[in-house]
Parts: sequence; C-alpha cells; structure tokens
Amino acid sequence: MKKKYYIETQGCQMNEYDSDKMKDLLKKNMDFEPTLAKEEADILIVNTCSIREKAQEKVFSLLGQWRKLKNKKPDLVIGVAGCVASQESSEISLRAPYVDMVIGPQTIHRLPEIYKDSLKSNKTVIDVEFPLIEKFDNLPSVTEAKFSEFVTIMEGCSKYCSYCVVPYTRGTEVSRPLNDILEEIDILVKNGTKEIILLGQNVNAYFYDDGKGNFVNFGLLLFYIARNKGIKRIRYTTSHPNNFDEQTFLAYEKIPQLVSHLHLPIQSGSDRVLAAMKRGYTVLEYKSIIRKLKKIRPEMTFSSDFIVGFPGETDNDFSQTIELIKEIEFEQSYSFIYSKRPGTPAASLEDNISEDKKKERLNYLQSTINSLSKERSKSIIGKNVEILVEGVSSKYNDMVTGRTTNNKIINIPGTEKLIGKLLKIHVTELNNKTLKGEVLTT
Ligand code: 5AD
Ligand code: SF4
Repeated sequence: MKKKYYIETQGCQMNEYDSDKMKDLLKKNMDFEPTLAKEEADILIVNTCSIREKAQEKVFSLLGQWRKLKNKKPDLVIGVAGCVASQESSEISLRAPYVDMVIGPQTIHRLPEIYKDSLKSNKTVIDVEFPLIEKFDNLPSVTEAKFSEFVTIMEGCSKYCSYCVVPYTRGTEVSRPLNDILEEIDILVKNGTKEIILLGQNVNAYFYDDGKGNFVNFGLLLFYIARNKGIKRIRYTTSHPNNFDEQTFLAYEKIPQLVSHLHLPIQSGSDRVLAAMKRGYTVLEYKSIIRKLKKIRPEMTFSSDFIVGFPGETDNDFSQTIELIKEIEFEQSYSFIYSKRPGTPAASLEDNISEDKKKERLNYLQSTINSLSKERSKSIIGKNVEILVEGVSSKYNDMVTGRTTNNKIINIPGTEKLIGKLLKIHVTELNNKTLKGEVLTT
C-alpha cells in the first residue's frame, strides 16, 4: 500500500504554487498518494506564512495538534515549509522538537532527500538555504494542465520595505531564464491551458541576462509570451510601482490577451507614511502610472494592497488613503492592520495607535472599496461583456463562473463543458454580490 501525504497551505499564491510542486514531488518521485484525513497520513506538511504575527502563531498551534497524531503514530513525519520555516528554523526545532523537517521556500525541490535524511536522523533536519534558481531545474515536469495555470517567473524581493519580512524569508530577487519560462508555458498550452498567471513577489522586477549580451525585462517577457497564440489571457501578480518599464506600457497597447485589470500595491495614500515604509515612490508617481495606463486603456480597473495603522499614521494620513481609493476607484484590496515583525526596521518604531482605531480604519477602508466595487458591478448590468469561464459555480450547480478582463466574476447558466471558453454574455442582474448573465454566442 502506498504511503499517504497531507499538505496544509497558508498564505500567498507563491505558497499555493510551492505546495503544488511538493505534491508533484511526493506523487511522482516519492510514490506517495494524497489523503484528506490527517490521521491517515504518513507525512504531514504545513506550508507557512510569516507576513503577519497571527499567521505565524497559527503554525505553532497547528503543530501542537499534529504532535498528538505523532504520539499515536510515532512513524509519522512532520514537516514545516515556507516563510516561518525560513525565519524561525532553529526556533522550530527548539519549540517543537518533534518536527522532522524544516524546508525553506527555495529548497522545496530537495524534499525527497530531506525526507530520507529525516528517516535516518532523530533530530530535526533543516534546509533553508537560498540556492539561486536551482529549485526550478529540479521540479518534476508538467504532465497535466488546468485551463488556468500559475507560472513563476521570478522569486524573492530586494525592496526591503521597512515593515516586511519577505526579503529575509524568500531571499532577494532572482529571475528564471527566459527559455525555461517559454518552454514551461508551451507545455502547459499544449496540455490545454488557456490562461497564464505570471507569479512572483515583484513580477515586473523580472530581468534576465543570458551573459551573452542579451537581456529581457518584464515588458519584453510579456511580448515573448504573447507570441504563443494558444493563450487567451495573460494575468500577473504581484507588481511594484517602481518597476514599471516602458515595454510594459507598450504591452498594454499591443497585447489584447493581457487583461485590463492591474493589482498594484500602494500600501498608503500619504507620502509621509510611504516614506516611513521605505516604499520608494510618492503618491503622485503612483498616480502617474495609473494615468498612463488609463490613457492606453480607459476601461482599465485596479486593485491594491493597503496597510492601515502603520506607526505614526495620523487621521490625516488615513484620510489621504481614503481620498486616493475614491480617486482611483480601487475595486478590491488585500488590506490588513500593520503587524510588527521582529528583525524589520519598522519594528523599532513606536506603535502609537490604539487597536480600536486600527480596526475602525480597516473597516472603513474595506467598506469604501466594497461600495466602489458594487457601483462598478451595477454599472455593467444591461451591458454585453466577454468572460473566460473558470469552473462550476460553488453556489449553483447549474451555473458556471467566469471572469471579465476587468476581473469581475459573473455566473451564467451552463455546465463544465464551457470551462476554458471565452464567451460574449449579456449581464442581467446583481444579486447580493453576485453578477449573473446570459450567453449571447457559443
Ligand atoms: N503588516 C501588515 N501587512 C503587511 N504586508 C507585508 N508586511 C506586512 C506587515 N508587517 C502586506 C503588504 C504587502 C502584502 C503582501 O502583505 O500590504 O503588499
Ligand atoms: Fe515586502 Fe515590500 Fe518586497 Fe512587497 S515590495 S514583498 S511589501 S519588501
């Protein structure tokens, strides 16, 4: 009988991607099979996030539960992967010595060896190095492809915003070779993928130099990718305002497959706070990117990341954030209360804002964005739009869910046969938060 694995994933899309790759390794290289029942598993892995304190504490409480399973089944192998593994490697072996493997975000491809070593050792095996781009050369190749697939083009971050742990946990920016990316996409498309989502901590910091005088930046990469005519849509996440190159603007002009929605983190609408965060741009500079994009594509919509309650943020700073949200009409956000992270420069700043005030600001910010989103949804009722069908609706099993180029989710009657199709539809109603429509052509 095959051994079984169970992986729990916390945090961002990079972690989702890494977990998928660990699952591939377990199935293809280690002959394990998946299980949904933790009690049945021979190997349990949690892929962790340390961006905020709460996420990190969750890991230790989960490990406490898994310890009980190990007491009943001493052969059980427990692994901690991801950013908490990277940041707290020795702390984990101290606080939770029953953990067998600690695997950093850049060493997941070494899982088969780390696993073997852990079987031989009675101590926690730790491997949290940053071995450049070795990871991608050692992952199993693609054999099955969904209609929408993530493709990692770069890893890490070299921005060192004053509040953030990512440069320390995932390492500095490293780009994958152009040909590796194009080949991976080619295989995915040949296996049925229609939508490519380029993934990286700062995708538009992508820069590959082949050492022979040829180089490619993010904008050029988009042009290379768009040459594959099997791709119906190209999306990317996450980008940084300081890395917008001229070729990327040109890509919005020339590449229709590139969607008219951009997630561009700003964090705050106050220059004072942005400077304290060491973001490296002003509100005006951010707005000039938006203005240029809207000039090229007036229909373009935007979403962003925000941190509220950064040390020293005044009511006035916060109002500037709200004004900016209304001006740009952000429709979605990843917004959180600032969390002090040990080892980051901002950790030494005095946290002078009360918890209640932080919560109040976060609620206000989120409700402002929600109402802008609702307004936009209302504005497309009665209009004809195009959607790419993603899957069967989670609420209604006689409907499928698709996404417009502006990232609006719309349900239409239909079955899974429509998945992966680009359809012209007529938007009929907004029910609660759900948009519904009817197909015009198939
Ligand atoms: N506290 C709160 N939010 C944070 N982020 C990063 N570090 C912190 C922190 N210390 C948020 C930022 C970033 C997103 C990935 O997570 O908004 O864009
Ligand atoms: Fe963190 Fe700033 Fe890098 Fe984003 S750009 S991952 S917030 S350091």
